[in-house]
Amino acid sequence: MTDSQETEVSEAQIAVHWREEEYYQPPPAFVAQANANDPAIFDRFTEDKFPGCFTEYADLLTWDRRWDTVLDTSSPPFWKWFVGGRLNACYNCVDRHAQADPGKTAVIFVPELESDEVVRVSYGDLLRQVSEFAALLRDFCGLRAGDRVTLHMPMVPELPVVMLACARLGVIHSQVFAGFSGHACGTRIADSGSRVLITMDGYYRAGAMLDHKAKADEALEEAARQGQEVDKVLVWRRRPGEYASQAPMQAGRDFFVDEILPRYAGATVEPVSMDATAPLFLMYTSGTTGRPKGAQHSTGGYLAYVTGTSKYYQDIHPDDVYWCMADIGWITGHSYIVYGPLALGTTTVIYEGVPNYPDAGRPWRIAQQLGVNIFHTSPTSIRMLRKVGPEEPKKYDYHFKHMTTVGEPIEPEVWRWYHSEVGKGEAVIVDTWWQTETGGFLGSTLPALQPMKPGSCGPAVLGIYPVIYDEDGNQVPAGSGRAGNICIRNPWPGIMQTIWGQPERFIDVYYRKYNKDPQSTDWRDWPYFAGDGAVQAADGYFRILGRVDDVINVAGHRLGTKELESAALTGPEVAEAAAVPVMDDIRGRVVEMYVSLKPGAPGEGAEEKVTAAIETEIGKIARPKNVWVVADMPKTRSGKIMRRVIASVSNFADVGDVTTLANPEVVESIRRQVQSAKLAKGELPRELSEAEYEEISRYGAAE
Ligand code: WTA
Repeated sequence: MTDSQETEVSEAQIAVHWREEEYYQPPPAFVAQANANDPAIFDRFTEDKFPGCFTEYADLLTWDRRWDTVLDTSSPPFWKWFVGGRLNACYNCVDRHAQADPGKTAVIFVPELESDEVVRVSYGDLLRQVSEFAALLRDFCGLRAGDRVTLHMPMVPELPVVMLACARLGVIHSQVFAGFSGHACGTRIADSGSRVLITMDGYYRAGAMLDHKAKADEALEEAARQGQEVDKVLVWRRRPGEYASQAPMQAGRDFFVDEILPRYAGATVEPVSMDATAPLFLMYTSGTTGRPKGAQHSTGGYLAYVTGTSKYYQDIHPDDVYWCMADIGWITGHSYIVYGPLALGTTTVIYEGVPNYPDAGRPWRIAQQLGVNIFHTSPTSIRMLRKVGPEEPKKYDYHFKHMTTVGEPIEPEVWRWYHSEVGKGEAVIVDTWWQTETGGFLGSTLPALQPMKPGSCGPAVLGIYPVIYDEDGNQVPAGSGRAGNICIRNPWPGIMQTIWGQPERFIDVYYRKYNKDPQSTDWRDWPYFAGDGAVQAADGYFRILGRVDDVINVAGHRLGTKELESAALTGPEVAEAAAVPVMDDIRGRVVEMYVSLKPGAPGEGAEEKVTAAIETEIGKIARPKNVWVVADMPKTRSGKIMRRVIASVSNFADVGDVTTLANPEVVESIRRQVQSAKLAKGELPRELSEAEYEEISRYGAAE
């Protein structure tokens, strides 16, 4: 029997029997004011209008030079959008609004401590700050268009200033989520070839000031180990003049921004006119192998796509107060806190801290105080806020017209709480399905024109033509009740251009599987493989089931099993490691690690060491719920660890047929060891949904 027969249950073989949810109609008051409330919009985006339909998005921007070609497909799958066009992303997000209405608020910063004052940054202020910081980047750091800079910044208003200053110069920013470890940051510095790191001394998280500069020192050490020297570290201070970190500043390398920036007071830096196809930024994400993938996004196509989708799907008008609670360190924050909303000239809220600090009413208090009318968050935050304060929203006088959920599947009952309690029945909801790689939304209802269905993201968004394929490339029809791999048949302006420095991997991961002809320059031969399982109902709505690669979605954050396993294997005693997902009521999934030790290894404190190694290599977000030290792992006859079997054990699910394993006898002893330890800790079995069973059963074998 071959490995694939032993280990794989094809997604397409699994019948899915969803209970169909009822539709919810958008409130009439929302429809009346919506940017897209005329069904004629669908006619403008029919497939025969592709790719020209996307000029509607590009026309929302101000171009220095209009494009000659909407879509160049000459070198698939490296699509080029708006070729010949020139523009500057910072000009589009800042200057043009500052010229029209300099006093208009661009950014509202809400510090985590309620005793600290809210900061309002007008478009005029933003232009001044961005120009001064761009002068510093250019003249103090010597950065030029095309150079890469790594940012490791928390949720503070200085972060969009830095991003936009980079964009003003054509410098490619690579912002690393502040919760990632110094080591993870260092790997990204090295991969991107950055010689400048921009960070902050500290920031508030759950009421405490975290020491963040310490991570910069670890990052530089790791980057150097990987051959990348960094010559300057720019350190913002959370409170200018006071240093919140214990880490020493290294003379000649580390500089406080508040000491250098005054040299550039009043500086004006003209936005550099960039080619539409010039890279705007890199955003690293996890994949099947350990090395992170730097998704490279373009200036013209990306900005057009996030601006268009912000207008129609987020329904952003210039006079809205828009709050997306995601972190700018993820793609959601780039597209739908910074670039999309600011390109439309609206007011975007940046909140520093955790949603339930100091209590479960905080988000609703912020919404009331600031007059937020568009709210955007993840199922994990919704589940958490519902758990800690189900009655809180009604205590506050705020009114959302529109709400978003993003990043993970949302359970229908959680959706209904979001709708009735958070939205007070007044808000329309969009469940937006997309990815770091896709720049912007792929699946969602058009909020005024398509009814909502809890648990389904909706149909594809305008100009996106998905298809579900089985493993052999046969189309799985809508309404068949069968799941498969969701792909997008056509390119779109927001799709990443490539994986930074790994063009072959870009083709292999996203296109190889369903490519019809490697020589073809017809986009129809190059469906984009999203890596998600999905099922399409008869009404055309998609239900996203989750990753089909070995990625665990923890609280909406993608963690590669390979990265987790490599981190565990850095411990000298660890012989083998496997990471599996465990279903969690709040965070969706959490990680459990299984390790076996080298013969003769003492084993003392092995659990703590594995946890510490993962925190060091990746960050606290990846902290496993449990580490199980087992005598032996269940293996295939070719020696691969069967993650599916241990995932079943961790989730109290049926382990299925294990007779084809090389060592079936170990399964029962692992099951007894792990499940009795779990019961002793009060981790009780939880009923699994059909989709969750499937997710476990398709878990691949570790190398
Ligand atoms: C998952 C986040 C269900 C999916 C924008 C995808 C979702 C991965 C949804 C991308 C949704 C995202 N419903 N699942 N509405 N949105 N996902 O790159 O598995 O951090 O592939 O981008 O999250 O995560 P990423």
